[in-house]
Amino acid sequence: MKTAASGFSPLISVDRSAAKPLYSQIYDAFRAAIVGRNLRAGERIPSTRALALELGISRIPVLNAYAQLLAEGYFTSRSGSGSFVSTSLLGRQEPAEERSVRSTRIRSTPRPVAQRCSLLPRYERPAWLIGKGAFTLSQTAVDAFPFHVWSKLVARYCKNLHLSDLQYGDPMGFRELREAIGIYLRAARSVRCEWSQIMIVSGSQQALDISARVLLDAGSPVWVEEPGYWLTREMLSAAGCRLVPVPVDDDGLDVSAGIKQCRDARAAYVAPSHQYPLGATMSASRRLQLLDWAQRAGSWIVEDDYDSEYRFDSKPIASLQGLDHSSRVIYIGTFSKVLFPSLRVGYVVIPPDLVDHFLSVRHAMDVSPPHLYQAVLANFINEGHFSRHIRRMRLAYGERREILVDCIEKEFGSLLQLHGAEAGLHLTVTLPKGYRDRAISARASRRSLWLWPLSPAYLGAASRQGFILGFGGVTPAEIPTAVRKLREVLMPERSR
Ligand SMILES: Cc1ncc(COP(=O)(O)O)c(C=O)c1O
Repeated sequence: MKTAASGFSPLISVDRSAAKPLYSQIYDAFRAAIVGRNLRAGERIPSTRALALELGISRIPVLNAYAQLLAEGYFTSRSGSGSFVSTSLLGRQEPAEERSVRSTRIRSTPRPVAQRCSLLPRYERPAWLIGKGAFTLSQTAVDAFPFHVWSKLVARYCKNLHLSDLQYGDPMGFRELREAIGIYLRAARSVRCEWSQIMIVSGSQQALDISARVLLDAGSPVWVEEPGYWLTREMLSAAGCRLVPVPVDDDGLDVSAGIKQCRDARAAYVAPSHQYPLGATMSASRRLQLLDWAQRAGSWIVEDDYDSEYRFDSKPIASLQGLDHSSRVIYIGTFSKVLFPSLRVGYVVIPPDLVDHFLSVRHAMDVSPPHLYQAVLANFINEGHFSRHIRRMRLAYGERREILVDCIEKEFGSLLQLHGAEAGLHLTVTLPKGYRDRAISARASRRSLWLWPLSPAYLGAASRQGFILGFGGVTPAEIPTAVRKLREVLMPERSR
């Protein structure tokens, strides 16, 4: 049984003028807190000294109350560690299951919530998202991350902490990190920017959200890629926008189709370097066409550049933002793929005239980003660890990608079509007619094979079925077995 090291005092007040003795008031308050489940089995109880001090009374009534609670089995004590709510009460205390909390029926007058809640699908984890390993999406090779360097930088930061670092920070983020990112983006991604245009956010998702709050109104028509990134769609739906699914082909977003469907869209959300999930790189002519449309229509382009550090057969593709001469592109990047996703650090390069709007919205949302990891990350980049890590990981992921492609070709021949294996940490395979990806994914999960189906990436009817296979978190040695398992799941009778 996990013990909580809280030692928080429950809300107890004692009335010195009451007829009821003090020890009895304290005993009743603890008993009520335990029976009412505000204090739970295994949780630490404050020391008698601390509680007496807090209540402003002598220690004796507290000692007496604790002695009785111990004698009756509500408390247990461990020498040297203090007193805890007894774990033998578990039977009498219902488990605090998340599900039972959610399904609690509350009888009352109407309990209205915002309409946008009903625009979002219920948050749940489908079968293919439960496990870790082949071929879970959005996993990085965390075992290859230089944690010894990272933890040294964290320790150094903590040792040299300035008291001013504990105060609220700049809503745009920590200047040193913004400068470091600016140097990286100009050199490696051909982004046109000054550090003062860069805002630090908690991953691309927050950047998408802030951009929608600044640029879009409820009902604004917005182009999204079809198929596309489901979290962009969910964020735009929550903002009440009208989603216009624009097809993608081997050249990326079909701009002419978008213009035909809705010329006056307020914005286009695109991933031109490595379209998600089909992996196309937007061609130069499409890029120019998209920029031209945005300039003529007075629209915005939000560029999601989430994983383009990892391109295997050629140099990384320059950003769309770098081609933009009319400041129509909002450029978003993240450290989720290039470092690790729980870091929750990303950035937005904002057109100069929009900086004040982004700043106001951000400040109203969450004031400013947390300081610790911004400072550590700035040092990680400035001391050369970041560029070294990218170089190393490009080779490591390149090897995984190559093994995966070889194994798929060997096991499946021309049955599966490969898409987007040139970059990033995933590739997509499409299935011949007759296969249903969701059903196969559910079947595969029962064998601990995690296949993200392609069809839910479509807003409209899915024109293809397939799987988006993440290879970031799979070791080269595991890949052949996992592909063989994929074959067994897909073609059970032929695999025997
Ligand atoms: C298309 C796309 N954009 C962005 C991200 C990264 O999001 P975040 O920075 O919020 O972790 C992902 C992660 O899988 C993605 O697939």
